Amino acid sequence: MISTKNYDIKDPTLASAGKLRIEWAYREMPVVKLIRQRFSTEKPLKGVRISACLHVTTETANLALTLKEGGADVIVCASNPLSTQDDVAAALVEYGIPANAIKGEDEKTYYKHINTALAHEPQLTVDDGADLVTTLHTKRSDLISNVIGGTEETTTGVIRLRSMEKAGKLRYPLIAVNDAQTKYLFDNRYGTGQSTIDGVTRATNILWAGKKVVVCGYGWCGHGIALRAKGLGSQVIIAEVEPVRALEAVMDGYQVMPLLEAARVGDIFITSTGDKSIIDKAHLQVMKDGAILANSGHFNVEINIPALESLADSKRRVRPFVDEYTLSDGRHLYLLGEGRLINLAAAEGHPASVMDMSFANQALCLEYMVKNSGRLKPKVYSVPEEIDKQVARLKLSSMGINIDSLSPEQKEYLTSWEQGT
Ligand SMILES: NC(=O)c1ccc[n+]([C@@H]2O[C@H](COP(=O)([O-])OP(=O)(O)OC[C@H]3O[C@@H](n4cnc5c(N)ncnc54)[C@H](O)[C@@H]3O)[C@@H](O)[C@H]2O)c1
Repeated sequence: MISTKNYDIKDPTLASAGKLRIEWAYREMPVVKLIRQRFSTEKPLKGVRISACLHVTTETANLALTLKEGGADVIVCASNPLSTQDDVAAALVEYGIPANAIKGEDEKTYYKHINTALAHEPQLTVDDGADLVTTLHTKRSDLISNVIGGTEETTTGVIRLRSMEKAGKLRYPLIAVNDAQTKYLFDNRYGTGQSTIDGVTRATNILWAGKKVVVCGYGWCGHGIALRAKGLGSQVIIAEVEPVRALEAVMDGYQVMPLLEAARVGDIFITSTGDKSIIDKAHLQVMKDGAILANSGHFNVEINIPALESLADSKRRVRPFVDEYTLSDGRHLYLLGEGRLINLAAAEGHPASVMDMSFANQALCLEYMVKNSGRLKPKVYSVPEEIDKQVARLKLSSMGINIDSLSPEQKEYLTSWEQGT
């Protein structure tokens, strides 16, 4: 059983503010609400210990409460040192869910929190970026025999898990929630799009209209960031390495060029690739005075911060989440949120309405794992199609939108080959 002392938060007096915000987010999470109502009667996760390593936000709190309602014994830790909402962490503890998360925690504390979550001896893991799963495999492999399975929330985590599987190191089944259509098409695109712009705006209060915004990576997150920056009147430039995506960006109406060219003209640079050293020393050396650098990819490696430090004579914090680097040639570059995902560092992360779908997938996949306990192999599975479609149907219905369905004649036509012109 969970010890209620099994938590580490910044300030317990923030709990009532956190509860209000969690309630507010819940209004925008009708699909999770339906699942919670069913879970409260069916208790599909009864007695199951879950360790969840997620951004500790209002939406995550609603997922954790839903899993608890389903009978699970849940512990939560942060999946990023700078994304925690301290009031939410405090509220979770009051709700009886131990939270181990403090905004701005150092790396040592971050891993201490992950280790506390693992000491819960999880039967299910919920991860965002795969730090919990890799720590479990490398430092606490003694606990793996308890584990039924787990889920992974983000692109970077899925990439890491697939590498583990390929190397023959993965020891229990995991579902790639990120790869559900009802996740990446909405959360990565519209969620990251809106909240990244929100994070940069809250940190800097810049006017987007007329700015040259360089988006590095035209994946699902990049699509959303570019779309929203364009909508605000920015001139958007895309830097890509993958030819099909670069071509798509061209036909979506953006300028596409190598980053070294874009570096000379951009006012704001936003990375979202899941890769490292995207903005490197060579780019920093040619940027305009006053250029703003932000990252919305999972880890803080997309902007080469050591290179930035090496070029700088001095550094000062000029606003919360804005560090001014003065380079030896006199130029100033502004790094936002210490290079960590800016939407969660300087804003509140994705709006609840989009996390409704991501976390509905999470809850239903965890239920699926329990139902299929022992039948799945140690590999990375896709979200079952029926879950993905169910989430879409429930979301549409919560929006009061009905759609058509295939007639028997159309169904037959679409599965036949004999009929042509
Ligand atoms: N901020 C958030 O809240 C949030 C939400 C979802 C995902 N993410 C993270 O954002 C990152 C991107 O996710 P995604 O779903 O868009 O991934 P994706 O795989 O759809 O897209 C990534 C793109 O980056 C491109 N890329 C890789 N290296 C590059 C380079 N050197 N230069 C230019 N482009 C390069 C790839 O070709 C690809 O098109 C991941 O780390 C993911 O985990 C963050």
